[in-house]
Amino acid sequence: MTLPERARTLCHEIENTEASTKDQLEQFRLKYLSKKGAVTALFDELKAVPSDERRAVGQELNGLKELAQNRFKALSDQLETQSDQTSALALDLTLPVPAHQLGSVHPLTLARAKITEIFERMGFSVADGPEIETDWYNFTALNFPENHPAREMQDTFFIEKSPEDSTKDVLLRTHTSGVQVRLMMSSNEPIRAIMPGRVYRNEAISARAHCFFHQVEGLYVDKNVSFKNLKDTLYHFAKEMFGPDTTIRLRPSYFPFTEPSAEMDISCGLNNPDGCTLCGGSKNICKGSGWVEIMGCGMVDPEVLKNCGFDPEVYTGFAFGMGVERIAQLRYGVRDLRLYSENDVRFLRQFEGI
Ligand code: PHE
Repeated sequence: MTLPERARTLCHEIENTEASTKDQLEQFRLKYLSKKGAVTALFDELKAVPSDERRAVGQELNGLKELAQNRFKALSDQLETQSDQTSALALDLTLPVPAHQLGSVHPLTLARAKITEIFERMGFSVADGPEIETDWYNFTALNFPENHPAREMQDTFFIEKSPEDSTKDVLLRTHTSGVQVRLMMSSNEPIRAIMPGRVYRNEAISARAHCFFHQVEGLYVDKNVSFKNLKDTLYHFAKEMFGPDTTIRLRPSYFPFTEPSAEMDISCGLNNPDGCTLCGGSKNICKGSGWVEIMGCGMVDPEVLKNCGFDPEVYTGFAFGMGVERIAQLRYGVRDLRLYSENDVRFLRQFEGI
């Protein structure tokens, strides 16, 4: 084949070459346009063409080179628009923006905040104390005598047992009542405070019990504090927390640090014409009785006042303690205690915006 014939074949080949990827485009460049490419190779042969034909063949080769360059440009433009289109597909600006996921306040935090708000409006301040306590603050000062079975009401996690003095045993507090002791010991002024906090008990974890939970305890010590004051305070709390129609019932009970002691139930609304508001009609919580227990309470035992530096002849006081999990359960219908600590977003998201 003569040089012009080969040039024409190559022309044809170039016109029919496609490049759908960057790699293929680069192959095209190397094959036809580089210094070692097919077009340059034909130019090299131009020297051997007789001089009278060289001009005409030269023009033909220039045409071939121009064609190869144009084809390269066309193919690379085509690739560029293609990739623009695919990235435009990947980034569809007309799609609606996914809603920004807001966090939610934990139901225990919500319940604690509500409890705190109600008592603050009644003039209670908020006090805090350590979760790691000595036996003395958690038990002894609160009138739990050594080896008294009442200590077994609360299964304790001990951290350190003191060989010579059990009041120095170190433990995870089983209730927030130790903060009462700390408050009374730190001042001789009248006290009106609540003490929210986490407490620990050595119990198997189930839907109804956990090895840690939260309490809010309250203490009011002053001259002439009466059981009626206790009842009025708790009645007001119950109505604020669970609605104005809520009624309360106090049942005699026993705590070593209060005398007399009581447990407080609230009406669950079972007998309301429009049904039970707390159990949601299921009677799961009140077991059909219409009453749900929410806290322990009583008049501070004179012995505890004495232990903590208050003269029981001059001062009297009341104390109460409730579980935050229980209050949140009744307020939000939480059926299983474990949900509070599992961090399952399907549970937590239900409290968004509350
Ligand atoms: N500390 C008691 C408990 O954890 C509750 C309580 C507090 C009872 C104050 C009476 C007075 O069970």
